Amino acid sequence: MKSKYYAEPFKIKMVEPIKILTAEERLEKIKEANYNLFSLDSEDVYIDLLSDSGTGAMSTGQWAGMMAGDEAYSGSKNFKNLERAAQNIFGYKYIQPVHQGRAAEKVVLPILLGPGKYAISNMHFDTTRAHVEIAGARAIDCVVPEALDTETYSPFKGNMDTKRLKKLIAEYGAKNIGLIIMTITNNSAGGQPVSMENLRETSKIAAEYNIPLLIDAARFAENAYFIKQREKGYEDKSIREIVLEMFSYGKIFTMSSKKDAIVNIGGLIGIKDDEGLYEEVKARTIPFEGFISYGGLAGRDLEALAIGLEEGIDYNYLKYRIGQMEYLAARLDKANIPYQSPVGGHAVFIDAKKLLPHIPYYEFPGQALAVELYKEAGIRTCDIGSFMMGNDPDTGEQIESQFEFTRLAIPRRVYTQSHLDVIADALMSIKERADSISGYKINWEPEILRHFTAKLVPKK
Ligand code: F0G
Repeated sequence: MKSKYYAEPFKIKMVEPIKILTAEERLEKIKEANYNLFSLDSEDVYIDLLSDSGTGAMSTGQWAGMMAGDEAYSGSKNFKNLERAAQNIFGYKYIQPVHQGRAAEKVVLPILLGPGKYAISNMHFDTTRAHVEIAGARAIDCVVPEALDTETYSPFKGNMDTKRLKKLIAEYGAKNIGLIIMTITNNSAGGQPVSMENLRETSKIAAEYNIPLLIDAARFAENAYFIKQREKGYEDKSIREIVLEMFSYGKIFTMSSKKDAIVNIGGLIGIKDDEGLYEEVKARTIPFEGFISYGGLAGRDLEALAIGLEEGIDYNYLKYRIGQMEYLAARLDKANIPYQSPVGGHAVFIDAKKLLPHIPYYEFPGQALAVELYKEAGIRTCDIGSFMMGNDPDTGEQIESQFEFTRLAIPRRVYTQSHLDVIADALMSIKERADSISGYKINWEPEILRHFTAKLVPKK
């Protein structure tokens, strides 16, 4: 892969100093945090790659918009601006703001799902799966098999396995499938994109069986950029045109705006034209999120979101953004460091199973690498593997994950090329001493979502 770097399409007006601890101080801090990166104070982190969610840098335009907040309880002008921007970009009639992505899921999913129902997705994000289950339904992942092979190139590893989707519909009965969910990009498979062809095909199947297609749209703009880069017939289309076509295949979307809309807090629900569904969404938004014209956000947040939606689909921004992933990936290629390839839109997923083959899944190679990155250079990442998966609720046994990833999620417009070099250099130095890195065991864990608070100790 070429290691061309697309320089930042912005200049820096304000800086946020970051502390650099010594190696000894970092050893102390990670020990105090019980080898759990979530327990570190952010001020003890040099480069924070824990999430790309809500961690982006807003623009001068967005900050100016913050000052124009109309904090009226109802009918604020910022809501109107947001509604107009979102209607234009997505082509949906009804737009409901909420405070973040999982709030959109909490409002929408119980309307369409219930006990005995199934949701089938290319891959559910954790909170989406949780809300499917809270609604009493079951969540089934149906990603293409290429997603599981981290080495072989495939342009759209995020795709739905449409053959299997049809089989699942036949097996469970169309009337029992409450929803088909398309997550773009497919976060859990490594920020991998979904092709337009696959969206079209999935939408056709959904229509054939009269099942609503919901788009989980957190990283919609990055997905559109990949379609422009990789899918025949889209080279000359604008990101805006591609986004409009992508959303034409869905009926509803839920969105965490903390990603591609480059705001620190916010979410959206979009409904193409179903007025009845919109009424139900409004009825659930008011008690959970607040009145419909603010949905859990301040007027100023709505304005920043309206502006961020437009900035997020700017071609030059996206070229730089995905360019950062490609630059980092090209440096890893040169050093033979394995990752989910081709690189995704918001993160580089290092294949810790391959980098640390001597550490078994039950000693958490993804977590071991995450701890090592902090010790090496103050870089905070997280495990997306067996440590995150937890124990089987029926048997209590540790689940063996299909992947053992360490996720390097890159915040938007925050870190420079030099930071990317620090990350690549740290990984190279870890690779050299990989044999000496030990796994971890859990000393204490809560029953659910254990990876956020579990306490670990090194195996040796
Ligand atoms: N859907 C996807 C695909 C996501 O990646 C996320 C969040 C959500 C929904 C929930 O949105 O956080 O605003 O409530 N992903 C973050 C991450 C947390 O780090 O990948 P939220």
